[in-house]
Amino acid sequence: MNSAVIASLLAAVPGLMLKTDPADLEHYGRDWTRRWTPAPLAIAFPESAQQVQAIVRWARVEGVAIVPSGGRTGLSGGAVAAHGELVLSLERMAKVLGFDAVDRTLTVQAGTPLEAVHNAAREHELAYPVDFASRGSCSIGGTIATNAGGIRVIRYGNTREWIAGLKVVTGAGDLLELNRSLIKNSSGYDLRHLFIGSEGTLGIVVEATLRLTAPSAPTNVMLLALPSFEALMDVFAILRSHLALEAFEFFTDRALAHVLAHGAQAPFAEVHPYYVVAEFEAADEAQEAAALAAFEACAETGLVSDAVLSSSDAQAAQLWRLREGITESLAAFRPYKNDVSVRVSAMPAFLAEAQALLAAGYPGFEVVWFGHIGDGNLHINVLTPEGMGETEFVARCSEVTDTLADILQRHGGSISAEHGIGLVKKPWLESTRSAEEIAVMRGIRQVLDPSGIMNPGKLFDSRPAA
Ligand code: MLT
Ligand code: ZN
Repeated sequence: MNSAVIASLLAAVPGLMLKTDPADLEHYGRDWTRRWTPAPLAIAFPESAQQVQAIVRWARVEGVAIVPSGGRTGLSGGAVAAHGELVLSLERMAKVLGFDAVDRTLTVQAGTPLEAVHNAAREHELAYPVDFASRGSCSIGGTIATNAGGIRVIRYGNTREWIAGLKVVTGAGDLLELNRSLIKNSSGYDLRHLFIGSEGTLGIVVEATLRLTAPSAPTNVMLLALPSFEALMDVFAILRSHLALEAFEFFTDRALAHVLAHGAQAPFAEVHPYYVVAEFEAADEAQEAAALAAFEACAETGLVSDAVLSSSDAQAAQLWRLREGITESLAAFRPYKNDVSVRVSAMPAFLAEAQALLAAGYPGFEVVWFGHIGDGNLHINVLTPEGMGETEFVARCSEVTDTLADILQRHGGSISAEHGIGLVKKPWLESTRSAEEIAVMRGIRQVLDPSGIMNPGKLFDSRPAA
């Protein structure tokens, strides 16, 4: 049966590279969530937008579901293929296609890794400012599909802000060129924005034109140790008023312990409950003096217990490693990830309730907090207790997420800040989006993917539950 389907695909898309080895099915059928057993039909590696279009048209006729696949570094199960889907990998579509010095744009194929985009922008003395720890493995198409955020959102915003134009193949099999990199375009619905954050449910991004910006002025990095969670928001307010902040990231002593166990160097002689990595412009003496003034303002009010200011690029990288190494250091514990956001102004009230819930809801579980607190995005990772089976663990975490979703709803927050809904957060989409909004999303999905072949089961089910 499978071999007949594959033969028909190869006949429809001559020259298409396909893989069906069990090791490849396993590798390409999962993302970083590791919670589902991969079981794709095959992996297709198109080399052009035309091949992608031919695959989608074939899949519509044959009724085969497609899972678009980039670097599969996602944390919500959006790139999982566990039900005989065809994985459409963009791995062989990873070229930088062009640079326009006047428009300050870079055009790349969707499979291009984020780090390659950074490097290409740097070659032209410009920058693509979206950045996060998986930069070497994730693909630009995946970052568009999830509207990825990362560590510099407080300065530069999310991926959405940097997409000048897109080429997509819709689930209907049409190749659309969206916005043509115009800065001003008041000509109706901006379909480009539908595809940003659509998690592969409307079609496949095949090409993106990215806006670039001038590289930031030289920066410096400081690591602060804080005595309490409450101090975090006060320190943020002080630093923001004194400095041009590029990043303001926090993590707890538990997170640090895991990163140190993975070989990082302890920053202070003593352990403190909370830490902040802040990066800020330090281009001249005035900015250096502002950094010192900010630090003193924090120290005087007892908000900071210890601090280190980097004195070299190597030391700055070492300080960043303490924050960026967290995900990898937790992976072996198969964490249940919460990626929530509230408005920064709502953070103190939300935190008070969330902390109480998590303390009461997970007795005996290790809960690791970290994230992009400067933009209202917290990562709350719950680690699998030793000896606890997957089913029991996920059921327990889901119960607590039910209440967390209620708290988020009360504070106007989101159950997914930057990882996407995928499979992991699907049960809680209604806590963030109204029934009316979801009905509109279903309608849009129906138009762009009339046969329901694009990443089915992700984000929301095509039909409401009976
Ligand atoms: C991060 O901020 O490090 C990423 O979102 C990954 C994660 O949450 O583990
Ligand atoms: Zn994050």
